[in-house]
Amino acid sequence: MITRILQILVAIAAAAIGLTIHYAASFPPVTSAQLSLPVGKVNGMNIVVTGGSSGIAVPAIQTLVERGANVYLTSRSAVRAQDAASKINEEAKKNECPMGYGEKVGTATGLGLDLADGDSINSFSDDLKKKLGDEKLDILVLNAGMVYPPDFDGGYSVTLAEGATPVDRQISANYLGHFKLVQLLKSRLTESRIIMTSSVSHWLGSSFAEDNVTGAVPKNNVWPVRDSYSAPEVFGLYGASKLQNVMFAFGLQRRLPESTVVLFTPGFCSTKIGNSNRQEGNFNVMDFIPLADTAKQGGDMLLAATKISKEESAGKLLFPYWLAEGAGEFLGNGFLRGAFHNFVQEVLLQKFSPRRVYATTAKGISYDVALQDKLWEWSEIATATS
Ligand SMILES: NC(=O)c1ccc[n+]([C@@H]2O[C@H](COP(=O)([O-])OP(=O)(O)OC[C@H]3O[C@@H](n4cnc5c(N)ncnc54)[C@H](OP(=O)(O)O)[C@@H]3O)[C@@H](O)[C@H]2O)c1
Repeated sequence: MITRILQILVAIAAAAIGLTIHYAASFPPVTSAQLSLPVGKVNGMNIVVTGGSSGIAVPAIQTLVERGANVYLTSRSAVRAQDAASKINEEAKKNECPMGYGEKVGTATGLGLDLADGDSINSFSDDLKKKLGDEKLDILVLNAGMVYPPDFDGGYSVTLAEGATPVDRQISANYLGHFKLVQLLKSRLTESRIIMTSSVSHWLGSSFAEDNVTGAVPKNNVWPVRDSYSAPEVFGLYGASKLQNVMFAFGLQRRLPESTVVLFTPGFCSTKIGNSNRQEGNFNVMDFIPLADTAKQGGDMLLAATKISKEESAGKLLFPYWLAEGAGEFLGNGFLRGAFHNFVQEVLLQKFSPRRVYATTAKGISYDVALQDKLWEWSEIATATS
């Protein structure tokens, strides 16, 4: 049995190395410098980062504040958001350097926002508009995300607007709540930059193929909410939400041509994503996978997304490692290809690819404009926005 497993692993590694050699020459990274170098000029800018209390966003927000930005960071818990903001402000003051990037550091402000709760999204957006006054929102980072932990007991069904049909909590936290937020903040997003955190897992999105869902889009505008999921199903559902992020980004860029929509993945990073209940002692799968990169490295990708040009990022998903785009020729465009990119390239081989910004073509189905529009139509209905 062990010999068989070893043979399979060797075969997978050999295939990965073969594909790497085959395609690497035709696939230069967007940046040749270290990832931590390219950060946009953010001095004096208003920036919102959803899911800013934990994980990859925290070190990125630290840098943005140190470079003079005013960052509104969010968490489901206003207390967690304020704690994170206080720590960032304290640290930023320590690192203040009058000869540095700006005249003075900016400020982090922590605010409560639950993206799986329609009322919370409404009040966050009202509160933010008051805080911004007449100013525009320069950068909106749609970063919050969750994966149901094995012992999840928070209720799978949520509703994002009065009278709307229920949707799944994980879909809402990762995608649909962000859709509603963008709809409510649209008037402030003129010539802005909207950054969306997706994942290599979007390749596995279509594996969540319930009867009435095609490529993460419900056929009859009703999401199939369940009351239990096996671990592989949770992962498929996560992939579906991340595919929705990609399709949303492409659809949004068409609707806001003056703005710049940038999609990125932080890569595989050690964060609290596997412990979304935020309870001490919960099992967090990320703590047991030594191949993961750090939250800071993931945050560097977010920073790079504040800088990269519209031309370089248009229609692409930014990766911190080289991804074998041509793998479809060998593996098809279904589950096998998703599993290869997700588990072989990201989990096993990410560390062996030089960490740069690579602009990569996303899963083919996400470029289907009719499907993007169908996703948009369902999202408007489910969030009662237009
Ligand atoms: N880590 C990875 O390997 C990896 C790989 C690819 C993509 N990503 C993506 O990176 C993003 C950040 O994740 P992370 O890895 O940094 O995980 P993390 O440490 O768990 O951070 C997730 C953030 O999202 C917030 N959040 C969770 N559920 C929310 C909800 N319903 N409403 C509003 N905010 C919510 C959390 O805030 P509270 O818990 O305080 O509410 C937290 O600030 C996610 O979109 C994730 O899908 C991560």
